[in-house]
Order: sequence, then structure tokens, then C-alpha cells
Amino acid sequence: MPKNDKPIYALRRARFASQLGQNAIAIVPTAPERARNRDNDFPYRHDSYFYYLTGFCEPNAWLVITADGHSTLFCQPKDPEREIWDGSRLGPVEAPAALGVDAAYSVAELDTKLPTMLENRNAVWYPFATQQGIESRVMSWLDKVRARVRYGALTPRLQCDACVPLDEMRLFKDAHEQDLMRRAAEISAQAHIRAMQCSAQMLRAGKDVREFHLEAEVLHEFRRHGSQFPAYGSIVASGANACVLHYRADAAPVHAGELVLMDAGCELNGYASDITRTFPANGRFSAAQRTLYDLVLASQVAAITATREGARFTDPHDATVKVLAQGMLDLGLLDANLVGTLDDVIEKRAYSKFYMHRTGHWLGMDVHDCGSYVEPGEVGQTDERKDPLSGEIIVNRPSRILRAGMVLTIEPGIYVRADAGVPECYHNIGIRIEDDAIVTTEGCDLISRTVPVDGDEIEALMRG
Ligand code: GLY
Ligand code: MN
Ligand code: MN
Repeated sequence: MPKNDKPIYALRRARFASQLGQNAIAIVPTAPERARNRDNDFPYRHDSYFYYLTGFCEPNAWLVITADGHSTLFCQPKDPEREIWDGSRLGPVEAPAALGVDAAYSVAELDTKLPTMLENRNAVWYPFATQQGIESRVMSWLDKVRARVRYGALTPRLQCDACVPLDEMRLFKDAHEQDLMRRAAEISAQAHIRAMQCSAQMLRAGKDVREFHLEAEVLHEFRRHGSQFPAYGSIVASGANACVLHYRADAAPVHAGELVLMDAGCELNGYASDITRTFPANGRFSAAQRTLYDLVLASQVAAITATREGARFTDPHDATVKVLAQGMLDLGLLDANLVGTLDDVIEKRAYSKFYMHRTGHWLGMDVHDCGSYVEPGEVGQTDERKDPLSGEIIVNRPSRILRAGMVLTIEPGIYVRADAGVPECYHNIGIRIEDDAIVTTEGCDLISRTVPVDGDEIEALMRG
């Protein structure tokens, strides 16, 4: 962590502490290491809540904060033998100066120190249901406090979910976070350009192109710019594979004449990017591909226009659906004689045969980031409706009002499987266009647009 980042984390800890309530305490662990097989672990990724409050990436660490703002870190002790194998550890002696916490101890002292720290507190906060074992760990400490009641110890009366205040804090990205997210998006955009150009060049050279070749280009570009990981499993789907929403980059051939749907984003210093582009494998759209592509793009433009401070989170989705549904009727994907008017298509969700996901999600430290999608002041205002497709009763609450500093994706798509009644020229075409947007007071700032979306611009790029 660069030295000048320290005040950011201290400020976040202070804001968090101020929401805990009088005489409360909060406990936030980082993520556990996870075994892949035998003595081989998955690459370690810290817990996002913990990192948000500390900027500290080592495993086996816990942060404890009290309502008066005092912070204590429990971390791995220095251990010359282990450090030969696993690398250098910060250690509790250096931690206060390096991270700005008030005190630090070895994590080996957690079970002896925590019961005392919990004693005589009104409430204990910890993140509920985020990692296995936190609850039982806290229970074991509370149990020790309870064993001392005869000596006058008071046990916290309340247990509260630390995710509630932290989710709300994380939903609004500060300048430091926005800067990192811009850099992550910029790297991912370059990676998409690289893969697009590679696809066209390899096909022009008569090579056997596979989805994994394009994934390799993306991963190379991520890593060479310092990204630690992909933010999620990359989707590189050629031809009909693009209609499988959770397809992963595999070994299928990438043929000239087909589209490639690529959904890939890097994580940089704990922050995700999430970009999808759909491009013709050899750099030239067919007429039918271009027609559907331009429809999805028009729906994205409508969603982008609807993304601004004061709008609801669902507004971009509703704008997308309107454009896509009209296009489905115009192009004969949906037969008006069977499904009725545009309003009927929307009302009955008939469009979901070709567009079955939402138009976006919060983006931040996690690709599907935390944050309530319901407007906090309107949680009690419910109305019920019957889903026209499943018949399920859905309880609606007012959608979140967008505010400056929130970051979300805008990702409409269309997925046309081969099916009777669907014009054959559109069979097996899957298209998604996904960009990352920071909500501003004027509208939104698209931070992933270094890679073009316009069909002509994509073709020009792939000629290069
Ligand atoms: N890449 C995951 C998503 O687009 O939501
Ligand atoms: Mn996404
Ligand atoms: Mn995506």
C-alpha cells in the first residue's frame, strides 16, 4: 500500500466507527486461504470489507474497531522460517506505522484478547453470512464473556450485521476508488482491443483460432499492466456459444463469419472492471449480425441516457427493454400476431425469450458489488405483482435512486437460439455490450469506452 493511502483507510474506519452506536465494537476478518488440492491453495484474495478498512492484503488478519474509533489489527506474526516459503509478513510491530491502526497483535492472541475486548460492550458488529465460521468464532468469545458474569462482566446485548453500514459506504465510490476503477477499466479496454485485433490477424493469416487464444491475449494485457487477477472468469464465446450466458472461454474454434462475445475485466488493486464486447471474428459484420448489433447498441444508448443522478436503478433497464422489445417486433423475432403490441410484450415479458438478464449491477471491489438495490428511505413501500411468466408473486420495493459516485454496469444483450418461428438469419447470434459507468450529477461517465462500441469503429480497429 503506498504510504499516502493511509489516511483514506483511517477515514473509512472513523466513519464506520461513528455508525456503531455508543460503546459498541466491530470485528471484521479478512478472507480465509482456500485449499485447491493437497497442499496447494487457490491464489489468495483478501476480503473486500476488510481491505476497504485497512488496505491490508495478508491472510489471517482481523480488524477490531470500537465506537470511539480505536482500531486494533490482529495479523500474522513475523516468522523467519515461514517467510522463507511464503514471503515477507508485515507483523504486529510494524503494522501501526504502516497501516495507521492504533494497536496490533499477533493473530495467535485473538482468542485470549477478544473476550476481554467484548466485555461490557453494548453491541458487537461483524459481517453476517459472508464467511463460514465467523459466527461460531464470535460465539466462542461471547461464551467466555458470559462465563465471567458472576464477576460483574456484561455481555453485548446486540449482535448487528457490519455489512449494513459497510455496504452503504462501499456503494459510494470516493475519488481514490474512482481513480482505481478508471485505471482498471482502461486496462480491460486495452485487453479487448488486443483480443479483437488478434482474432482478425490470426484469421487473416489462415491460423486455427480458438477461444483460449483470445482469452490468452486478454490475460496477458491484464497482467502486463499490473492487474493481480481477472475480476471474474472470462467469457470468450464464439458463434452459438454466445447464447450460453455463463459460458467460459474454452477450446471452441473461432470461425470467420461468426461473432465472438467476450466478457472480461481485470481486477486492479482490489477493484473490478467488467466489459463485454461482441465483434465479428474476422473484423466484418454480416448484414444480419450488424442489424442485431445496432439494435443492442441503440438499447445501450437508451440505458446510458437514463443513467443519471436522481433516476432509479431500474430506469436504464426499462429503457433498454423498450428499445429491444420494439426491435424484436420490427425484426420478426417476436410475432405481433402472437404477442401483441409493444406494451403487451413488455407487460408479459415476452422479450425475455431473447433478453433474460438485467441491464446492470453495482460494480466496485466485487464485480457484482455490494449495496442495496432498494431506496433506503422507501423500504416499507411495497406492492405485489404476479410474474407473468412464472406466476410467482413478487414483492416490489422502490428501486434505488442513483446518486453521484455510484458505479454500475450497463449491459444489454440479445441471445437468439435456433428456434422455429425465428428468422433463420438471426439463429445462434448472441450479443452483449457492457460498459462501466460512474454516476455524476449531469449523467454518467463511461470509464470503459477506450474500446469502441460503434460497429464501424470496431471494423476499422480490426483492420488495423
Ligand atoms: N461478468 C459478469 C457480469 O457481466 O455481470
Ligand atoms: Mn456485468
Ligand atoms: Mn460482464
